[in-house]
Amino acid sequence: MATVFVVANQKGGIGKSTTATNLAGILSKEAKTLLIDADPQGNSTSTYDAKIEDVATLYDVMIDSDKLPITEAIQHTPNGDIVASDPLLVKAEKMLDGDVEGFYRLKDALEELDGYEYIVIDTAPSLNIILYNCLIAADKVIIPVTADAYAMQGIRQLYDTIMAVKRRQNKNLSIAGLLLVRYAGRSNLERDTRESIETSANEMGTCLFKTVIRECVKTKEAQEQKKLLIDYAPKCNTCLDYLDFAREVVNQ
Ligand SMILES: Nc1ncnc2c1ncn2[C@@H]1O[C@H](COP(=O)(O)OP(=O)(O)O)[C@@H](O)[C@H]1O
Ligand SMILES: [Mg+2]
Repeated sequence: MATVFVVANQKGGIGKSTTATNLAGILSKEAKTLLIDADPQGNSTSTYDAKIEDVATLYDVMIDSDKLPITEAIQHTPNGDIVASDPLLVKAEKMLDGDVEGFYRLKDALEELDGYEYIVIDTAPSLNIILYNCLIAADKVIIPVTADAYAMQGIRQLYDTIMAVKRRQNKNLSIAGLLLVRYAGRSNLERDTRESIETSANEMGTCLFKTVIRECVKTKEAQEQKKLLIDYAPKCNTCLDYLDFAREVVNQ
């Protein structure tokens, strides 16, 4: 059985997609890994240079009435295997409304998968039915946070959601930890915030990952070039940190 990581934080522009693509990209160098893009905005899909038009996407797997086997929605790109997102996923709430099994679509789909060691799921910045599907299908949640004054805003609500899913639908679910991303470490505010994030993480019974992800302009360049950072700039700070992080989270 694969280990399923979900990258979640209901704030946008934090570093979820960057974390999901880097983690999946790094893991795929060593083990069979699948990236699933569950954000209708499709940033991970774009970074992996996968298609959205004229191909089967997560929409066909999860939402469409004649559900497609997930194996038929996997695209094998030079960056790795991915199930692409779809702008149509925004209709999920309406389409799955009133369906008692609507929360289990992704879990059911993943059970058909064979041979993958790791699955990494990128999510949208919202607490909606797609996120519930991801949490129900997952083993571990990775929560990226930035070291600013609003870092912990909304994390409590996400934590409560995760714990509710753990109680009711997925006993196996745990929070792998909070991951400090896009860290410049130049200001006192950033350093103080780091400490307060760690305190909050401990209060929630989880941890702040030892590895901190530093900023680097190469990150955005690689995304624009539709390349994995590990192929584009393997020695840059962000890539070195994601390598450390991948080791830390896998050996946890
Ligand atoms: N370590 C980093 N160094 C530099 N820029 C980063 C880093 N991590 C993320 N970014 C940039 O920050 C922006 C938001 O990141 P993204 O991963 O798309 O966030 P989210 O998925 O949470 O919306 C993107 O433009 C991305 O290129
Ligand atoms: Mg994103």
